[in-house]
Order: sequence, then structure tokens, then C-alpha cells
Amino acid sequence: MSTLAVIGAQWGDEGKGKIVDHLAERADLVIRFQGGNNAGHTIVNDYGTYALHLLPAGVFHAGTVNLLGPGTVVNPQALIDEMREVGEATGVSFDTFKIAERAHVVMPYHIALDAAEEQQRGELVQGTTLRGIGPCYADKAARSGVRIGDLLDADYLTTWLPSILEPKNRLLSEAYGLEPLDPSALIDEALAWGEALRPHVVDSLPLISEALREKRNIVLEGQLGVMRDLDWGHYPYVTSSSPSAAGACIGAGIPPKALDKVLGIAKAFTSSVGEGPFPTELTGSTGDRLRNVGAGEYGASTGRPRRCGWFDAVPVRTAGALSGVDALALTKIDALDGFEQLRVCEGYMVDGRRVDLAPDTHALGRARPIYRDVPGWMSSTEGVSDYDALPPNAQRYVRTIEEVTGIPVALVGTGQHRTAVATRDPAFSLAG
Ligand code: GDP
Ligand code: IMO
Ligand code: MG
Repeated sequence: MSTLAVIGAQWGDEGKGKIVDHLAERADLVIRFQGGNNAGHTIVNDYGTYALHLLPAGVFHAGTVNLLGPGTVVNPQALIDEMREVGEATGVSFDTFKIAERAHVVMPYHIALDAAEEQQRGELVQGTTLRGIGPCYADKAARSGVRIGDLLDADYLTTWLPSILEPKNRLLSEAYGLEPLDPSALIDEALAWGEALRPHVVDSLPLISEALREKRNIVLEGQLGVMRDLDWGHYPYVTSSSPSAAGACIGAGIPPKALDKVLGIAKAFTSSVGEGPFPTELTGSTGDRLRNVGAGEYGASTGRPRRCGWFDAVPVRTAGALSGVDALALTKIDALDGFEQLRVCEGYMVDGRRVDLAPDTHALGRARPIYRDVPGWMSSTEGVSDYDALPPNAQRYVRTIEEVTGIPVALVGTGQHRTAVATRDPAFSLAG
């Protein structure tokens, strides 16, 4: 048995969804621990291709319980729509899909405020996904939030919602010139969401305690990556939760000592969507080539083109330092097929000084990558699942990543499909 946290070790979109779907075959419980429908976790399996936003990536496995943990923020209508779309297309059952009653609700005014605040920022725009994530987590911290469990309690909601809506309405209308929301219409809407989701809402801690006691296989699914961590990323170009292993414990309800392994997910190159410094970004034809290989690097939530660049060891090493990453899943190595020459950033020079861990935002903006040239391979790795069958230079690339990050690579991704994984260390296949 094991409790394994799957976390993003770069700027997000590392392939967490694919790896969780791959691992979930042997998992009893998959828990999304933070974020909301700002996520786009692409899954390619025998059911087809799906970009999941709120549903945990274990939902395609009949024997796996999937939980939206208390650390997530849930847009109920988006979740209801996603369940309907995935259910109708695949026939998968949501009987064992659960939502923690403590998870917070993304309300329509959070979405309106996300857009209004972005517009107000002008040239300091942050490039959020406009899903209301920041305003929702802000209300959670300010103790002005609505929780999933509240949607099931008409008496409470009827008193609580008007009291928190009143200042929001003033903000919307007076500061931003937007239409205020009608309290009774919103209460009706919220209660209807509650009724639709009621069969799935649980107090999650007893479920988790039992799973730990029974020594079940648990996978904790992160959203985004270390560089957009609220505390450790390049603030303010971050999200409003913590995609770290510590965030996994808090957001899922797992004691830190119960975490057996941390698997960092890193793409074989780097991508970022949204604003903020990105030292290895390539804005010319090589960046375009990285973006357009295969299914392409376009936001699974917003469709925005992702900024692309060479592999950067600094964020991955930083994820290791913060989250105690035991091993990496290095995804999309097949996207590098056919590059004669590759480059890997081993560290930065900042103001004449060598830096190996991600510095704070302003210094990161001045960072100059120190590159190591690595020979490419001119043959296909697509779909290879036997590590030894990878071309020698692809294996050399994997060893280079291990060397520059100081973290062993346990899994290598060779395609979008859940089975396109070469396993080097079976301890990370949940088999043990
Ligand atoms: P997530 O947000 O971390 O789950 O990642 P996304 O799904 O947003 O973006 C990762 C993209 O890379 C998606 O299009 C995946 O289907 C794709 N992907 C993941 N692993 C691999 C891989 O090993 N090879 C290829 N070619 N694509 C992959
Ligand atoms: P997954 O889980 C990539 C980025 C946004 C923006 C910043 C804050 O698929 O990796 P937010 O809407 O969270 O307030 O936006 O974070 N961002 C993501 N980038 N993948 C994601 O999710 C993201 N979720 C948010 O672009 O820069
Ligand atoms: Mg994504």
C-alpha cells in the first residue's frame, strides 16, 4: 500500500492528469486537494480524450473512489455540467464520486470579481483563468465563504448568503459599475446546486482515516505547479492555493507522516500559461515548434497558447526542496523526438551570482539561464513503454535531467495515452 502525492514541479500543465489516470488503475482512493476548475487535466484513454477541470483524474476507474477534497474550490454548475458531459460520453458511473462538505463554493460574484479585478490591473494583469479562484479563496480566508455543505442547509443559507452578498454587491456596482446579484435568486440557484450534488457530499475525514487504517492505495492529485504556489511561486503571478506536498496534506486531510511518497511531475521541456517571469522561454521558431508538437500546448481550460521553453532544472529542484520529491515522472519526452540538439537549464545567473533554487519574483525576472547542450535523438519514442527500448540519447537525456535536478526519474511519458509510460521504478506504479 502507499499514499502517494502527485504534484506539479514546474508552472502547471506537466501532465498530472495523465499520470494520475495511469496510477489510478491500482488506487483505491484519488483525492484532488486544491484548486478548482482553473485546472485542465487532459486524459487520453480507451474512453477518448477529456480535459477534466474538477473531476479527479481517477474517475475512469470503476473500483476507485474519487474525492474533491476540502482544500478545493468548487463551481457547482461547472461540476454538474462536467459530470453530465463525461457521464453521457463514457457511461462511467459517479456512484463513488464524493465531494467534501468543507470545500468552498465558487459563486457567480467570484467570477465577476475575477474579471473586474483583472481589468482594473491594467498592465499589471496577472493572466488568471477568470474562473473566480482568487476571489473565492480570498473569501475563504476572510471567513466570508460558502461551503458545499452550506448548500444543503436552506435555513443557514437563507441567513448567511444575503449577509455576505450585500458588500459584494456594493463592490460590484459601486467600484466596478456591474449589475448587483439578486439575493433570493442566488439562494434558489445555490439550493438547486445542493440538491443536485447532495448524493455526493460527505464529511471526508472518516473516509480518509478508514482508508489509511485499511492500508489502501491513495493518490493525491495536485493542481498547477510549484512556480504558481501562493507562498513559494512568483507572487503575485500565482494561484491562491498551495500545489505542494504540504498543501496536499492540508487540502486532502492526510497527516504529513502518512505520506509515503511524493511524485513530482515535470515535462521534458517547460511551459507556462499566464503572466510572470519565465527564464527559459523561447519566443521564436523553437518555442513554436515545442508548442505545436503533437496535441500542442494550448490551455486545456482557456485555450490560450502556452509559453514554451527548454527544460529548466530550477523549478523542479525547488519543488524537490519544498515538497521532498522522491522521484519524477518526466512527461512528453516524445515531443522532443527529432530535435538534433537540446538544451537544459542547470541554474541561473542573477546579478552575477549563481542561483540553484527559484529566487523571488524580481530576481527571477533578472535570471539568465545557464545552459547545458545535450544531443537529441532522431527517432521516435512515441508509445514506448519499455525504458530500455528508448533510443540511447533519450536515455542520456533522462540521466541529464536526474543529474541537473538531483531527483531520480521513475516514470517517463512517451505519449498522451494513459499506457504511454515507461516505468523505471516500480515503487511508483503503486504495485508495492
Ligand atoms: P496537467 O494540467 O498537469 O494535467 O497537464 P495538461 O493536461 O494540462 O497538459 C499536458 C499535456 O501534455 C496534455 O495535452 C497531455 O495529454 C499531454 N501529455 C501528458 N503526458 C504526455 C506524454 O508523455 N507525451 C505526450 N505527447 N503528451 C503528453
Ligand atoms: P493545471 O492544474 C496552468 C495560472 C493562470 C494564472 C495563474 C493564476 O491544469 O496545471 P488562477 O485562475 O488560478 O487565479 O490563475 O495560474 N493557472 C494555470 N496554469 N495550468 C493550470 O492548471 C492553471 N491554473 C491556473 O494562467 O497565471
Ligand atoms: Mg493543465
